[in-house]
Amino acid sequence: MKEILNIKNDFPVLVNNKDLVYLDSGATSLKPYCVLNKMDEYYTKYGVNVNRGVYDLSYQATDEYEKTREVVAEFLNCDSREVVYTKGASNGLNMLALSIGYNMINEGDEIITSELEHHSSFLPWQQIAKNKNATIKFVPLNDEGRITVENFLKVLSNKTKVVCLTHASNVMGYVTPIKEIIKEAHKVGAIVIVDGAQSVPHIKVDVKELDCDFLAFSAHKMLGPTGFGLVYGKYNILSKIKPVEYGGDMIEEVYKDSSIYKEAPYCFETGTPPIAEAIGFSEAIKYLNNIGFDKIESHVKDLTDYCLDKLSTIEGITIYNKTTDVGIITFNINNVHPHDASAILNEDLICVRAGHHCAKLITSWLGVNSTLRACLYIYNTHEDVDKFVESIKRCVEYFKEW
Ligand code: ALA
Repeated sequence: MKEILNIKNDFPVLVNNKDLVYLDSGATSLKPYCVLNKMDEYYTKYGVNVNRGVYDLSYQATDEYEKTREVVAEFLNCDSREVVYTKGASNGLNMLALSIGYNMINEGDEIITSELEHHSSFLPWQQIAKNKNATIKFVPLNDEGRITVENFLKVLSNKTKVVCLTHASNVMGYVTPIKEIIKEAHKVGAIVIVDGAQSVPHIKVDVKELDCDFLAFSAHKMLGPTGFGLVYGKYNILSKIKPVEYGGDMIEEVYKDSSIYKEAPYCFETGTPPIAEAIGFSEAIKYLNNIGFDKIESHVKDLTDYCLDKLSTIEGITIYNKTTDVGIITFNINNVHPHDASAILNEDLICVRAGHHCAKLITSWLGVNSTLRACLYIYNTHEDVDKFVESIKRCVEYFKEW
């Protein structure tokens, strides 16, 4: 079968593990050579600290490091002053919740979330709500488990101060109708924070078009290095919210009784940052842009449809999301613990995720404790799907005998 993309050889993990079928890209994606080479270039040619050294190598490192801010700004369609470097989506979401939550939420205010949230999107707000006597409201999910605008309107009120929702669920693979939700939330003056960890690697996200106030995502799920992420923030809000971490490199002046911080985004970036990671990430964006998001979406959709068709013919498995928007398929082999199933798949060199996926509210909503999850991404092929489906069949047969 002809592949829309044929790029396995760009990924060293796939080159070094010839028969591997990697279906765990929702946990982290593989990294292409160009990203690793760029990080290597930093470490071997100008591997010194940024923003501090008054010497050429430090200027060079700082230039390369700051260049990524421009690349990300162009990628998201925003100003580079609106791009905050973080250590990942979780770090970004926590930073926003701490800053906005402690400074802008008062008793009786309402925060809208959903059962589709990753723990990193939900738990910080659960904590804020407890501390501030604010109320958490859950958008009721529809029968399929999706967030709809209609259901969002059922919980939106004049008391809503913050809406923090996933753009794409890491368990169900559904894309939230976030643009329409943002429009409605803004009518009551609420701030909208979007968890883009699973959407930004798959679909073209234009923050101006969405009109979101904040967007947080990780580099490592979109071919970039681990330990690095981004927050986009509308400058008129970003410049008003307070930092929550203090230390080196984020100040203008320090006195015994007070301090003056740098302007956003730099006041949010404390200490020596993940320099090689930031520099390497620009290559990940270039790589994805070179392929083009139209092609990425059609490739993943083609493979996912193919996979769902094949899986749905197997008796003895339950698929929890009959449709999916970002290559995620969540399922169980009936009466088999996902860890046991995953161990059998592992014998066939198939990597999937098994567990609650750091999203316990949605696994509970599904009525289970844990599931298997296969995530298809740009380097997967029809042959990967065939091997995966055969391994699932073998697994079903194996456990029938127990
Ligand atoms: N949040 C990541 C996942 O969904 C780790 O697997």
